[in-house]
Amino acid sequence: MPGDKSISHRALILGALATGVTRITGLLEAADVTATANAVAALGAAVTKSNGAVEVKGRGVGGLRAPSAPLDFGNSATGTRLMLGVVAGHDIEAEFTGDASLRRRPMGRVLAPLTTMGLQTEGDRATLPLLVRGTRDLLPIAYDLPVPSAQVKSAILIAGMHAPGRTTIREPLPTRDHTERMLGYFGAELHVEDRDDGARTVTICGDAEMQGAGITVPGDPSSAAFLIAAALICPASEIVIEGVLMNPTRAGFIETLREMGADIEELDHRLEGGEPVSDIRVRAGALKGVIVPAERAPSMIDEYPALACLAAYAEGETRMEGLSELKVKESDRLAATAAGLAACGVEARIEGDDLIVVGQREVKGGSLVATHLDHRIAMAFLTLGLAAREPVTVDDASMIATSFPDFAKLMTKLGAEFR
Ligand code: S3P
Repeated sequence: MPGDKSISHRALILGALATGVTRITGLLEAADVTATANAVAALGAAVTKSNGAVEVKGRGVGGLRAPSAPLDFGNSATGTRLMLGVVAGHDIEAEFTGDASLRRRPMGRVLAPLTTMGLQTEGDRATLPLLVRGTRDLLPIAYDLPVPSAQVKSAILIAGMHAPGRTTIREPLPTRDHTERMLGYFGAELHVEDRDDGARTVTICGDAEMQGAGITVPGDPSSAAFLIAAALICPASEIVIEGVLMNPTRAGFIETLREMGADIEELDHRLEGGEPVSDIRVRAGALKGVIVPAERAPSMIDEYPALACLAAYAEGETRMEGLSELKVKESDRLAATAAGLAACGVEARIEGDDLIVVGQREVKGGSLVATHLDHRIAMAFLTLGLAAREPVTVDDASMIATSFPDFAKLMTKLGAEFR
């Protein structure tokens, strides 16, 4: 599998804020991560390729310089939001911009806490393009996340490293914890506490110092989701995917598939660079519809398009609850998924923030699916097409390069045919 996208962004950004060199093996080579690498370099942390790895020459916490041109994050909200946290802690001005999809994404959720800490923005804009000014005098805050978002949490943690004292974030449900793990690995002081009500608090100690270190990026479970889905719905398939990240904050998809009756075996569980990793064997088989509770959403937030396409082949209804966050992804994924399913002849409906997919023995396909600049909508529906009666066409496959450039190549190796 290609390297995990979330961990790849963090390795570049935290590497730039550490002292010394961070050598990253298995960094995802895809447009989103390249945009972050370019941004980090524009702020003065050199990024170079060396012997199959990528090295970042860190400048220390607070040690970056002003970029001389706007920072273009392409399609990537992760890069944008985390780098807003970086700029917040520096006495520099930077302009953030991106593609049409990114310019529609809400930035108010990250600007609200960061401006409380001291970041200045022009007017009250809450979407890109944005001109922001950071400060060396950031204030620490205690912040209740209004939505479960690892990007917002990470932006505040990164800003909090630059402030004096302690910055605490309370998240209503645990979200992916790669920033916390990597901060600890680089030597920053941080405390994590799980509450009885399911909430989690994370505290970062300010004026932090980090030492760069080697990082091996595990395989991306959100990209693996399409291969897993393909193997489950194409009769008689059996595949082994090597080195997939199995972090519990990303495990909701596999948990759900097992409830649906999927045959998924973990072959070799191990720790790599502080993250749990496994080879996984997936075999095709009958699946049944399930209810996916809202509390599980943060641990599988990027996998709903794949799950919905897979649910089309399950017996009975699959109800995915509490998907409001899907509306603010690279596209409105709730609407795009439901519309794509309907185009493919699958009965699907939206009730409030829930998505209901009615499984059927045979999926018609033969349709054109609108992807709305969304890589995961494109990959999910191409995957659905593998087992459909007629091929599925997507209107634009170019965005797949943002996260999984080798998608078609890998799928072709597994027997898929693309035209
Ligand atoms: C990500 C967090 C999630 C996820 C995104 C990557 C991250 O977004 O959807 O693809 O790397 O922190 P939110 O923080 O908006 O939930």
